[in-house]
Amino acid sequence: MVDHWHRKREILTLLGSEKFVSGEWLAQELGVSRTAINKHIEGLIELGVAIYSVKSKGYKLASPVRLANEDTLKFGIKNRCFYFNQIDSTNGFVLQHVNELERGDICVAECQSGGRGRRGKAWLSPYGSHLYFTQYWQTAGNMAQLMGLSLIVGCSVVTVLERLGVTGLGLKWPNDVYLDGKKLSGILVELQGQADGGCHLAIGIGINLFMPQQIGAHIDQPWSDLSDIVPVLDKNRLIVGLQKQLSQDLTVFEQQGLTAFIDRWKKSDIFMDKSVNILLGDSSVSGVYQGIDEQGGVVLTTDKGKQSFIGGEISLRASFTK
Ligand code: ATP
Ligand code: BTN
Repeated sequence: MVDHWHRKREILTLLGSEKFVSGEWLAQELGVSRTAINKHIEGLIELGVAIYSVKSKGYKLASPVRLANEDTLKFGIKNRCFYFNQIDSTNGFVLQHVNELERGDICVAECQSGGRGRRGKAWLSPYGSHLYFTQYWQTAGNMAQLMGLSLIVGCSVVTVLERLGVTGLGLKWPNDVYLDGKKLSGILVELQGQADGGCHLAIGIGINLFMPQQIGAHIDQPWSDLSDIVPVLDKNRLIVGLQKQLSQDLTVFEQQGLTAFIDRWKKSDIFMDKSVNILLGDSSVSGVYQGIDEQGGVVLTTDKGKQSFIGGEISLRASFTK
């Protein structure tokens, strides 16, 4: 019997053209019942795929679906790649398997039912629309060094996307990637301490590729995707490139620290010399943004002089008062 994901992927390929196709035609092409087609289409819509359904015409994709190919990924990556059509969270998968994973192993999914962002926020993860990627890493370093490590992940994402022809990218401390001033990608580094003082890391990256309208409407801040800039994106190439670049950058970080990345960070930093607010829970501090320090903290000129702030609970916002 054909696995239901295999069937859903076949249906998506047949829906891939510009024209509407009828349910009868899909059923005939795939040798299944009309009811089975209905069920699969309903299932895809529940997973966030945008499909037009018009009574007299049939079905058509409302926004493109970009799927990776498991064999191509496994061939292109020296480490192991755990590929899923659907998973709770790729970060969750990595954290559940830290004892079986090696540095550089990755988990990729086409859809996350519980995609997570920083501070318990949800990361919307419709099927086949975006990239949901987590790389396992392990470090002898302690927690204090991890803020620096999380900054370089943003640099890695920018490098890989620029290589694919994307322009207009920027970095917002600590590790959001922006495109034309709107959030394109989010990074969530989660860790588990080891008895010997080292850390297991789940380095999670979400990159918006082609946002379905009905999903984008639920996002509470300006967002962007790559649909206009790279309409025909090779998702396999993006994943393979990201795994290689991250492995390389993490290795350099371990040998040379954050200093090796300061120029790359500066080149993309979107807030340099701008008036900003630092949000620290219920309080906030205003100042002029001066970049990052050697630990990866954010530096501001405030009315008290130069001040550094560091920590996972801090948020940086443009200030509209000046
Ligand atoms: P900061 O990181 O500075 O605290 P932030 O508002 O970007 O600020 P995060 O927790 O980092 O907060 O990121 C989650 C936010 O990213 C969501 O609340 C949403 O506004 C935005 N976003 C952009 N793309 C998506 C997406 N695909 N799914 C969910 N949220 C997205
Ligand atoms: C943020 O900006 O708040 C971080 C978003 C991180 C989303 C990615 S998608 C892949 C990985 N798995 C998750 O559950 N989250 C990260």
